Amino acid sequence: MKIVKDVAEMQRTADEIRRSGKRLGLVPTMGYLHEGHMSLVDEARKNADVVAISIYVNPTQFAPNEDLSSYPRDFARDEKLAETRGVDIIFAPSDSVMYPHKQLAFVEIEEVSRVLEGEFRPTHFKGVASVVAKLFNIVKPHMAVFGQKDAQQAFIIRKMVSDLNFDVNIVLAPIVREEDGLALSSRNIYLSEDERKKATVLYRSLKLAQKAVGDNERNLARVRSEMLELIASQSTGKVDYIDFVDPDTFSKVEDVGSLERVLALLAVRFGRTRLIDNMILETRPK
Ligand code: PAJ
Repeated sequence: MKIVKDVAEMQRTADEIRRSGKRLGLVPTMGYLHEGHMSLVDEARKNADVVAISIYVNPTQFAPNEDLSSYPRDFARDEKLAETRGVDIIFAPSDSVMYPHKQLAFVEIEEVSRVLEGEFRPTHFKGVASVVAKLFNIVKPHMAVFGQKDAQQAFIIRKMVSDLNFDVNIVLAPIVREEDGLALSSRNIYLSEDERKKATVLYRSLKLAQKAVGDNERNLARVRSEMLELIASQSTGKVDYIDFVDPDTFSKVEDVGSLERVLALLAVRFGRTRLIDNMILETRPK
């Protein structure tokens, strides 16, 4: 496994791989790797001959009041995990490599960056889209894998790639969960033992939504109320939002209407830890 820290060296390496006729796959991450990230590596392996993973905690996607400085980092551990899983290249730049000068060029995906996560983190997706654009230009992958865990992020990256004609194929991988349903996340280590137990309420509320819609409930405001009630009764979690969108457009829906699938998304804060989760609800009554 090769570890690359420099932009020019990564671009040269990418050029060599591409010239040799091999397909290069990229899994962008912020490190502190877990099985969710690893499932993306496996997905990349299915589609590419050479698998690169980037490990970079990107400061421009964190607001000043967010957890940039405390975000978990353990490169030695990440390196072992990546090697064991058969990763070929780790691209792990420093801040001065990624942002050597004050950066003035950014990518903005309008409208969809302002809702849901964007309402609570107004500058977040500008930082995400811009760093992913940089990573695409540095690693030059034929394909890149993103997790459905961050459904809005994945939608935004796809929109960027299609609107700006990036020559990268985007593949989505399903959410990997703990046995009790909690979606894997690097931020789960912030949770106290008690919060960790109660955090399963996110998944349980999504299952409740799935059941309600599967049982032919069409009114999503009612589904939201049931979810809020469950979360309030079983935890001290503070709900930032529970929203339903058309998975193809990310526009909000309050009624199932003729949609065959509705994407339910939520963000809940446990103390200083903010967790997000989502589920695609099949709307066809059984
Ligand atoms: P990070 O939070 O490290 O996540 C990297 C990738 O792993 C994302 O595509 C995310 O959706 C996926 N992922 C995380 N947890 C997952 C889970 N439980 N199941 C499946 N996939 C999961 O997302 C970022 O980093 C950054 O915003 C990044 C795209 C790297 C830009 O900085």
